[in-house]
Amino acid sequence: MKIIVVGTGFVGLPHAAVMAEYGHEVYAYDIDATRVAAYKTGEAEEIERYVNEPGLVSAIQETMGRYLFFTSDITDVVEGTDVFFFCLNTPPKRDGSTDLSYYTNAGHTVAKLLAERKDKKRVVLVNKSTVPVGTARLLQNIMNEHNVENFGVASNPEFLAQGNAVDGSRKPDRVVVGADTEEDFQIIRRIYAQFVNHVRIRYLETTPETSESIKYVANNLLLTYISFWNGVGARIAETFPNIRMEDLKIGVTSDSRISTWGSYVSNGAGGSCFGKDIQSMIYQLNQAGRRTDLLQAVYNINEYQKVYLIDRAIHEAGFNFNQKTVALLGLAFKKRTNDMRDSAALKVVEALLAKGVTSIRAYDPLAADAAQSYWFNPEKNHLFERITYFNSAKEAISGSDAVYVSTDWEEFRGLSHTIDTTVQPPYLVIDGRRMIPDAQTLVDRGYDFLPVGGMFMKGKR
Ligand code: UDX
Repeated sequence: MKIIVVGTGFVGLPHAAVMAEYGHEVYAYDIDATRVAAYKTGEAEEIERYVNEPGLVSAIQETMGRYLFFTSDITDVVEGTDVFFFCLNTPPKRDGSTDLSYYTNAGHTVAKLLAERKDKKRVVLVNKSTVPVGTARLLQNIMNEHNVENFGVASNPEFLAQGNAVDGSRKPDRVVVGADTEEDFQIIRRIYAQFVNHVRIRYLETTPETSESIKYVANNLLLTYISFWNGVGARIAETFPNIRMEDLKIGVTSDSRISTWGSYVSNGAGGSCFGKDIQSMIYQLNQAGRRTDLLQAVYNINEYQKVYLIDRAIHEAGFNFNQKTVALLGLAFKKRTNDMRDSAALKVVEALLAKGVTSIRAYDPLAADAAQSYWFNPEKNHLFERITYFNSAKEAISGSDAVYVSTDWEEFRGLSHTIDTTVQPPYLVIDGRRMIPDAQTLVDRGYDFLPVGGMFMKGKR
C-alpha cells in the first residue's frame, strides 16, 4: 500500500518507520525542510535531535530508500496513494480548547493536491493525532470544499507513551479504527494486515466519533488512576502511622478488577498528553452544556499534587524555605526523556521561588538544556535566574539546605549515600517519587525525610 504520513514528530516518525518495516511504500512528509534534511542523513544524531525514541534510528536506517522516503513536498507522490495519516501537533489553547491550525493547514494542502490528481481511486484520510470529537468531519468538510472525489475519512488514534513509541507501534494493545464505509475499513485492514486477527492485539472497527472518544476516555481514565492513588492511597499512608505504601499497593491491585498501572504515587503526572487531553475533554463537554465534576477534580488533584510536598514540608517538617538553597533533582516529566511539558518541576520551581528560596541547584541527566531554554526568557520572572544547573546529583546537593526529588531517574535510587557523604544534618530530604528505599538509615543519621505516600520522619538528633 502507498502511504503518506503527514507530520514527522513523536507520533508520525515512528509510525512511518514501522509501516515501512511492514513493507508498505511510505512517504514521511513534513513542511519543515530542515527536519526532513536531518532525517534524510539517516544519522542517529540528526534524527534524535527531533525524535529520540529507542529503536527508531535502526528502524529508519533499515527501511530508508527501499520502503521509507522523506520529503517536504508531496506534489509528485500524491498520485496512487491509498492512505494519508495525519500526525500533527494539536497544542492546547489557554481556554483548554485544541489548536487545530496545523491540522487544518495540512488538510487544505492535501485537499488541493487530491483535487488535482489524475487517478480517482479511493483514498482514506486518517487522523492519528488526538483531536476533539468531530474532527474527522472537519477534515471531510475541508475535502468537500476543494471538491476532492472518492475519499473517506477515518480516526485511528495512537496510544503511545514516550520512550516506547517504536515498540508501541509494532505491538499495540489495540488498533482502533473509526470509519464510515466498508470500503474504507477494507483499505485500512490491508494497511494493518499484521494486526487484523492477531491473537493478542484487539482490532476494533467503529465510528470515527467513537474512535476519537476512545483516546480521550482512555487518557482521562489513566490520569484518574494516578490521581486516585496520589489523592487517596498516598494520602492515607501520609496521614496514619505504620502504613507501608508498597504493601498497600500490592494488597489493593491484587484484585483482578483493579489496575496496577497508575499506582506508582508521585508528585503529579506531567507530559504532553494527560494535562492537555483532560482540559480538552472538559472544554468539549462544557461547550455542550455538560457538567464535568469528576474530570475537573482529577485535573485539580493532579495539579495540586505537583506542589503538595512543599506545603507538607512547611507544615509537617516545619521547614522554612525563605533564604534557603534547595537542590532539585530531576526536571523532566518522567525518566528517560528531556521533555519538560507539564513537568512537576515547573510548578515546584515556581512554588520554591514564591516561598523565598534564594538558590535552586538543579540536576537532570537529560533535560537541563530544555529546562534552561524554558526558564531563560527575559519576559518571564527574573527570579528564574536563581536556578543554576549542575552535572551530577552530588554537585547539586552540595551546599544546599534541602533536596527535592522530582523525576524518577533510576540513578536517584542511590541518593541516600550521596546525601550522607555530601551534606550534614539537619537537612531535609523531600522524595516526590519514592526513590529512596533506605530512608530509615538517613533518619537514623539525623536527616529529616518527607516522602510522597508516607509520613514525615524526623531525623534522630
Ligand atoms: C501518556 C499515556 O500513557 C499514553 O497512553 C498516551 O498516549 C500519552 O500520554 P506519556 O505522557 O508518555 O504517555 O507518559 P506516561 O508514562 O503515561 O506518564 C505520564 C506521567 O504520569 C509521568 O509524569 C509519570 O511519571 C506519571 N505517572 C505514571 C505516575 O505518576 N504514576 C504512574 O503510576 C504512572
